[in-house]
Amino acid sequence: MSSEELRLVGASADAEERAAEMALRPKSLDEFIGQDRVREQLSLVLDAAKGRGRTADHVLLSGGPGLGKTTLAMIIASEMQAPLRITSGPAITHAGDLAAILSSLAEGEVLFLDEVHRMARPAEELLYMAMEDFRVDVVVGKGPGATAIPLELPAFTLVGATTRAGMLPAPLRDRFGFTAHMDLYEPAELELVLRRSATLLGVDLRPDGAREVALRSRGTPRIANRLLRRVRDFAEVRGSGVVTGPVAAAALEIYEVDALGLDRLDRAVLDSLCRLFGGGPVGLSTLAVAVGEEPETVEVVAEPFLVRAGMLARTPRGRIATPAAWAHLGLVPPRGTFAGALTLPLEEDDGSR
Ligand SMILES: Nc1ncnc2c1ncn2[C@@H]1O[C@H](COP(=O)(O)OP(=O)(O)O)[C@@H](O)[C@H]1O
Ligand SMILES: [Mg+2]
Repeated sequence: MSSEELRLVGASADAEERAAEMALRPKSLDEFIGQDRVREQLSLVLDAAKGRGRTADHVLLSGGPGLGKTTLAMIIASEMQAPLRITSGPAITHAGDLAAILSSLAEGEVLFLDEVHRMARPAEELLYMAMEDFRVDVVVGKGPGATAIPLELPAFTLVGATTRAGMLPAPLRDRFGFTAHMDLYEPAELELVLRRSATLLGVDLRPDGAREVALRSRGTPRIANRLLRRVRDFAEVRGSGVVTGPVAAAALEIYEVDALGLDRLDRAVLDSLCRLFGGGPVGLSTLAVAVGEEPETVEVVAEPFLVRAGMLARTPRGRIATPAAWAHLGLVPPRGTFAGALTLPLEEDDGSR
């Protein structure tokens, strides 16, 4: 089990959690909470396609783990009343894997390709042609005698998801008709997510309880739903089952989720940054080694929220801790650090004595 799976506020999901999530997934665009701009843009794309009686343009969903990419892919298929095929980049190791999937699609089918940035190179090139012309060349034979047999494909909609849009080669990115950039959610939006989930799960969640959990969910619906389940356990075992603010706070204390929603990895990142590297700037890979994680995990899972919370900044020279980070750790930034320069010194020695 990776450390990511052990994290209560990590954003990826294991098998058991995926089952729990299925039950909570919004089924239509109207049920989908927040991301107003994405929702509006997407509904225009889908309505226009429906109006023309055509399949929708290919859609790229870009955003961190747990923000609703898989949910949106399912919603796209259901809004288009189209069948949905699900696969992922890492599952496609050869161009042939992709050719087999593409050639078995039904007319109008939605193909959801998760982690599209992890697909094998040759498959990527096959995908370009499939996306643009709805055809693939199937190579038969080897060496000089090999021939490419063109194969017509049914019209389909590709929905690609990626946590790292910057990793996609430009030719692939350009072939998506619409890219939805999904942001971290506001606490008020997460409160709505939580209230909806509480109703579905039969949890007595009070407004102050929803607020408390929302504030500690790192802007991520998956984490909000996960914390709700843990808080419900606590409320049932130690209380009357009612989730109030104080009950939620006490429960999350036990799970080491602090008042801002920072968990162990977040705190480890800030701690290394401040204590080991004097507040930075320090490079991502150095920072990742210091906390014993992959650079991608630090970059995709921990950093977006730390940046949003105003505790970490990404600069061309590396990552730096802001005054808020030092304050959150209960440390005073030394002079000569970035944060120290921004923090007013308590006693200014002007050398006049
Ligand atoms: N906008 C939303 N409104 C309500 N619930 C959401 C929303 N986005 C995500 N969720 C919930 O969060 C969980 C994780 O979403 P998912 O689509 O699997 O994220 P991703 O694929 O981006 O990692 C889902 O089970 C769903 O219940
Ligand atoms: Mg997903």
